[in-house]
Amino acid sequence: MVSRVIPVDSFDIVIFGATGDLARRKILPALFHRYAVGQMPDEARILGVARREINQQAFKTLVRDNLIEFTQLAVKEPKLLKSFLEKLTYFRVDVHGEDGWSDVSGALRSNVKRVFCFSVSPSFFGLIASKLHATGLANPDCRILIEKPFGHNLIAAKSLNNELLNLFSEHQIYRIDHYLGKETVQNLMALRFSNALWEPLWNSTHIDHVQITVAETIGVSGRGDYYDRSGAMRDMVQNHLMQLLCLIAMEPPARFEPNSVRDEKVKVIQSLEPVLPTDIVRGQYRDKTGNETYRNHVNNPDSNTESFVAMKVNIGNWRWASTPFYLRTGKKLKSQSSEVAIIFRDPPHMIFPISEERKSNALIIRLQPNEGIKLHNMIKEPGPGGFRLTDVSLDMTFANTLGTGGNSQDAYERLIMDVIRGDQTLFMRGDEVEAAWAWVDPIIAEWEQTDVLPAFYQNGSSGPDQATSLLHRDGREWRDIC
Ligand code: NDP
Ligand code: BG6
Repeated sequence: MVSRVIPVDSFDIVIFGATGDLARRKILPALFHRYAVGQMPDEARILGVARREINQQAFKTLVRDNLIEFTQLAVKEPKLLKSFLEKLTYFRVDVHGEDGWSDVSGALRSNVKRVFCFSVSPSFFGLIASKLHATGLANPDCRILIEKPFGHNLIAAKSLNNELLNLFSEHQIYRIDHYLGKETVQNLMALRFSNALWEPLWNSTHIDHVQITVAETIGVSGRGDYYDRSGAMRDMVQNHLMQLLCLIAMEPPARFEPNSVRDEKVKVIQSLEPVLPTDIVRGQYRDKTGNETYRNHVNNPDSNTESFVAMKVNIGNWRWASTPFYLRTGKKLKSQSSEVAIIFRDPPHMIFPISEERKSNALIIRLQPNEGIKLHNMIKEPGPGGFRLTDVSLDMTFANTLGTGGNSQDAYERLIMDVIRGDQTLFMRGDEVEAAWAWVDPIIAEWEQTDVLPAFYQNGSSGPDQATSLLHRDGREWRDIC
């Protein structure tokens, strides 16, 4: 299926931190892809801002080399790459100083959408926001795109929200959680709210439990300093896993419109029950040689930061009482595998012999790799000679069903275009971020107060044994990470 491309209005996007890792790996490749499919108008322009002293040619060479490294399209389409690079201009601005701002201002056009992308250290977010006003770069229709982390705890998130809201309206602030831009994550909403089939089953009467797994094979990948101060709870659970949980658990919004959707997500977060210390497992990876350990990777031999979290979460509302959500995420696990598994209750009365092959019905929403949705059912094993049941799945793998060839657009492509369109549905509202911190903070505080040490797990495993026990003691089992 060829995806439909609806061009967006013309825009100027200013990327603060244009020479940084995120801009090079995600933001600029996303813009290049949207340019290549014709969604980005010809007159749209990209203004890269960073601190280093380089000339225009050196900046373009840096971007070109990165696009070649991170996108196959840049290798295949050199002409397109060349014309894309013409859209780029570099501005040297140290955001602490006064120099260079007027050059950026002079280059911005007044009659197009204006987006400021904050791809810099979070400690600069407030400063850049105020400079945008002080230097006259901000206009009433401009948008700011804020990278994560949005605060380090509730107090910091509130203070940042206040700082930004003193200068911009909520409708101008786009707080990014790139998981919301992933194709399958959006499909979760499509599946739930465009089919009549699921809603009658979507509750604790029919769903036994939910598993959300985001497993990574990578370690801290050069972000050790940031990661060691955050850990998996702040880096992944507070945002990405929380968003997945919200999309599964929320009530149907009245409309597919930013505030309707976000109102329902906030209600879910506010319904989360406090997590008991016995319902949570923290882990840290190490290996047999002692070299590939988390502590080595973050250069902190005494670190007790978690690179893995597994937890049982209860939602205190009518729909979900007695259906636990089990969340698990970690680095250096055995496979790169992210999925949501909705495990249904068994039939109330079984007329067939109980066998090992019999499995509960499960709806698996696979985020990555091999994006798609599968519904596991039991059917009769074909052929004569007895009556045996076998598990067969109805497969909606996007690559097969929709002919995407496994090439879904990157989350950033969708999200940046949504900023230009002015659609905040897939961005977090301020109160949503604060509610998530309000739930996460006490868990972290408890760890800090009790000096709970993380359980070690082997690099390349499924995580610590204690995570397995978390489900075993409830008579359940994690799905294999594969
Ligand atoms: P990097 O350290 O790779 O890049 C930082 C950028 O900020 C560089 O372009 C740097 O310019 C610029 N910069 C630093 N100091 C100044 C200054 N005083 N004035 C102007 N520009 C300055 O960071 P990342 O790209 O990794 O991260 C950027 C943001 O994205 C952070 O908020 C991070 O938390 C978030 N993020 C990053 C992810 C990732 O995978 N990298 C994932 C999710 C979020 P120069 O190089 O010229 O000094
Ligand atoms: C980022 C985290 O937000 O998400 C990283 O900071 C993590 O630690 C990454 O690796 C995972 O994103 P994805 O899209 O690769 O699953």
